Amino acid sequence: MTSNPRILLAGNWKMNHGPKATREFLSRLDLPKKDGAQARIYVPCLSLPEALAAVEERRLPVQIGAQNIHYERSGAFTGEISGPMLSEIGIHQVLIGHSERRQYFAETNESILLKTRSALEQGFEVLLCIGELLSERESGRTETVLREQLVRVLQNEECKAHFGGRLHLAYEPVWAIGTGVVATPEQAEQAHSFIRSLLASSLGESKARATKILYGGSVTPANFKELLSRPGIDGGLVGGASLKPDSFRALWDLI
Ligand code: PGA
Repeated sequence: MTSNPRILLAGNWKMNHGPKATREFLSRLDLPKKDGAQARIYVPCLSLPEALAAVEERRLPVQIGAQNIHYERSGAFTGEISGPMLSEIGIHQVLIGHSERRQYFAETNESILLKTRSALEQGFEVLLCIGELLSERESGRTETVLREQLVRVLQNEECKAHFGGRLHLAYEPVWAIGTGVVATPEQAEQAHSFIRSLLASSLGESKARATKILYGGSVTPANFKELLSRPGIDGGLVGGASLKPDSFRALWDLI
């Protein structure tokens, strides 16, 4: 099967699917391998071992990632998960800075920088999420907000070195997440192109091109194809539509 090698389909299960449901999902998922295209699912922490075991058992072409990581490697941080713990069970992928983490768990551009830098230092591959609120878009501040969300990471030498290698981005307009209101392909293309221009001015054209920028926010099998047809959209970060094996497969078939 031929496919676009740049494309990454990433599911974000959020706080859904404990170990039992994870096992069930992965036992029902039928995913043919595709040249180069990647599938990944960020599962709840407690389901990570189950997910890794099931993927290995069924030889599914799916990477398993964590939805969060603390920036310290150990210590008095009740309820948190560290990089060494994730590495110990065989996790190499982490999602950082999702808007729900920013909104409900007070993550800031500063703490997100700490997490991103620490995760990269520890050898993880990071998908860093950015995106504007509806009020910010409506007041014409989308580009300012995206720049603010990226500037610290783009000024940090350790992070800079990993763009296009182990550091990639997801653009998720907050107003499109879980709302059923997907950004129009034009809106998504415009934001991606702006983000890539920010990358190019700090990192140069070739790193900017090598960095994947996924679109996220109400992606479904009905709208994914059109989003993917736009230049600069390198895949999707998908919440709701990644929760059922059939719709995950339907998304994969569109790549
Ligand atoms: P959604 O979530 O696809 O359910 O809108 C996307 C996300 O939050 O990553």
